[in-house]
Amino acid sequence: EWKGVLCVDAVKLTIDGREVEVPAGTTILEAAEQIGIDIPRLCFDPELSLQGSCRLCVVEVEGAPLLSASCVTPVGRGMVVHTESPLVVETRRTILELLLANHPLDCLTCEKNGDCRLAEYCYRYGVKDSSFAGERHHYPIDDSNPFVLRDMNKCIQCGKCVRACAEIIGKDNIDYINRGFDRKVATYGDKPYVDSVCTFCGNCVAVCPTGALTEKPMQGKGRRWELDRVRTTCPFCGVGCNFD
Ligand code: FES
Repeated sequence: EWKGVLCVDAVKLTIDGREVEVPAGTTILEAAEQIGIDIPRLCFDPELSLQGSCRLCVVEVEGAPLLSASCVTPVGRGMVVHTESPLVVETRRTILELLLANHPLDCLTCEKNGDCRLAEYCYRYGVKDSSFAGERHHYPIDDSNPFVLRDMNKCIQCGKCVRACAEIIGKDNIDYINRGFDRKVATYGDKPYVDSVCTFCGNCVAVCPTGALTEKPMQGKGRRWELDRVRTTCPFCGVGCNFD
């Protein structure tokens, strides 16, 4: 197939017993999506660069020595892929348990309740809590921003907020700091949001898969699906940007 200056070959592979043909360079996750197979993902977002860090999207490729992260693995001719084999399911359960090992289990009162990808996948794979006991973070909740509530105890370090800030609006207000257990996403200088250069664009909130970054209702309480979205104008800098 001729596409601009590149000649793109088609690649045929089999996913969960179904044959699919996609252009070379397509990832396994995208190829699966084309035939309606939903592979779980936490760090992947089609609008952002690839990070491949959460590993929840792992799949079994026949002949490969290890499981492959499907969001960063390109398809290969004749590949045979299993997206829900016993080994894949067991691995995903372990990954979810590892995430829950340092994640509050306050889902009943969490602002993200009903709209949380982590909870959705725990439900899908029957993970109720973690069998891994260890130290937990107890970060203060950052309530300083008028629009965003920031609870880093719920951050799973998928890095989507960091990439959204850099790649969608070209800023670097947030990034990873520290190493090992103390690694976290923080503003420059680890300041509260309100003292940082954040312009409250909301892109980080929109991509966050857990309750780490949530929108603050202007009055009272209200979860995402209980609120009406209206067109409005940001009151902060006077440029007059409109938002939905
Ligand atoms: Fe593939 Fe996170 S979605 S590694």
